Amino acid sequence: MKIYIGSDHGGYGLKHHLMDTFKEVEFVDLGHWENNPADNYPEVAHKVAAAVSQDKGSLGVLICGSGLGMSMAANKHQGIRAAVATSPQMAHLARQHNDANILTLGGRLTDQDTAAQALREFMETEFEGGRHEPRVKSIEPD
Ligand code: RB5
Repeated sequence: MKIYIGSDHGGYGLKHHLMDTFKEVEFVDLGHWENNPADNYPEVAHKVAAAVSQDKGSLGVLICGSGLGMSMAANKHQGIRAAVATSPQMAHLARQHNDANILTLGGRLTDQDTAAQALREFMETEFEGGRHEPRVKSIEPD
């Protein structure tokens, strides 16, 4: 499985923990590649969102301090449904009900084990479809 991943300085440590934990996953790390307190999250959010929207069916992970700024920037892209998760259950529901294609995490709010469990749920859970299909379709404004 391929995952586009990115972080700012607030998520740098957690990003590397996740890449080290899931050896079986092919991570495409789109930055930032140094732990620099002056870096900015939107730049990386836009790169990962663009990659996921161009690679149909793919998934992404974005990590900043809270997960919030990354989700706001990524969700500006058409076809992107980025969801912040602070628990494995939220990550599960983001896939099952919302067909989220980007998981965003807070490196300063979520411990490494919880984040890893959330990512596992995100990767292993399928979108349920059915009654959720028209709801997800109508997330995009006309
Ligand atoms: C950076 O200090 C912090 O604001 C950023 O990582 C993120 O939490 C923004 O949403």
